[in-house]
Amino acid sequence: MELMNKLWNAAKADRKRIVLPEGDEERTLVAAEKIHELGLADVILVGDKDIINNKAKELGVKLEGIEIADPKTSDRLEAYVNEFYELRKNKGMTVEKAEKIVRDPLYFGTMMVKLDDADGMVSGAVHTTGDLLRPGLQIIKTAPGVSVVSSFFIMMVPGSKYGEEGMLLFSDCAVNPNPTYEQLAAIAIATADTAKNLCKIEPRVAMLSFSTMGSADHEMVDKVRKATELAKELRPDLLIDGELQLDAAIVEKVANQKAPNSNVAGKANVLIFPDLQSGNIGYKLVQRFANAEAIGPMCQGFAKPINDLSRGCSSDDIVNVVALTAVQAQK
Ligand code: ACO
Repeated sequence: MELMNKLWNAAKADRKRIVLPEGDEERTLVAAEKIHELGLADVILVGDKDIINNKAKELGVKLEGIEIADPKTSDRLEAYVNEFYELRKNKGMTVEKAEKIVRDPLYFGTMMVKLDDADGMVSGAVHTTGDLLRPGLQIIKTAPGVSVVSSFFIMMVPGSKYGEEGMLLFSDCAVNPNPTYEQLAAIAIATADTAKNLCKIEPRVAMLSFSTMGSADHEMVDKVRKATELAKELRPDLLIDGELQLDAAIVEKVANQKAPNSNVAGKANVLIFPDLQSGNIGYKLVQRFANAEAIGPMCQGFAKPINDLSRGCSSDDIVNVVALTAVQAQK
């Protein structure tokens, strides 16, 4: 896969420290060894040292050169507790509560990223998306000038010509249940920037709906229309258009009929879904029916990169998401 090769090479060229808070999980351990061997990142496993070492032995995984951070014995725990308390005291956090919370590997890993003991974090082989996002939103927060954290998938559709020779970015399929039109505009802009900066493609962004250029009237369509106008106004340098039905967005013949004046219709390579139900269902439909590879959900908009895995992920998926996270950390 050409894109993944490029990203692996980019990750190797400027190695970053990526923390894996599910340190005693089998696929994570296998992935950690591979990441270390390939030189994609400096991995830090979080968890009980004895449990991790025993599990690695059972699996025949070599952990030489891989750091293990054990919240129970870490000399950084106090600093993490204090910082977490400071960040959340206005929300009713106490030092006692913070001491308990920060020992949770996901919070511990997130604090490592916050205090620059790691450059990024990848989790989700065991935990849910919400489990990863909550500490991220509370601790890392959004990057300057970014109003909302969202997610994207890189979809690789074998044998397809749609998008960029079968590669498309889908967003938001994992984070915001029902974005406002302002948030939808922000999600479109963030995904366009991700397409440019991470995937190195010229983004053509379609704002998806069940209506194409006024063919239907409904408050749900209005939201997409307003988001499109706002995104265009905020970023006139980007190719963003809508509202578009999926076929008008990616099929040239349909686009010629339904949206002949659009500079995106028929050739979109970034698809923005109006809400999480359509986005989540949409990516899974393509993944299953078209046998597409779905890389993600990757997060965008955080001040520092933290990324999720699907609980059904393989160790190779973890390797790829770590490489992507390392490249996100380079900027
Ligand atoms: N961007 C930026 N900040 C946000 C966002 C966002 N998207 N969402 C919430 N926040 C902020 C809030 O303002 C709040 O800040 P504060 O505590 O400093 O005031 C903080 O984050 C926590 O917000 P809550 O509303 O308490 O968090 P919530 O319990 O709603 O959880 C979450 C947020 C986890 C993102 C939730 O919306 C969620 O569960 N989303 C869906 C995740 C999911 O299940 N995805 C589908 C499965 S994934 C898959 O299939 C691949």
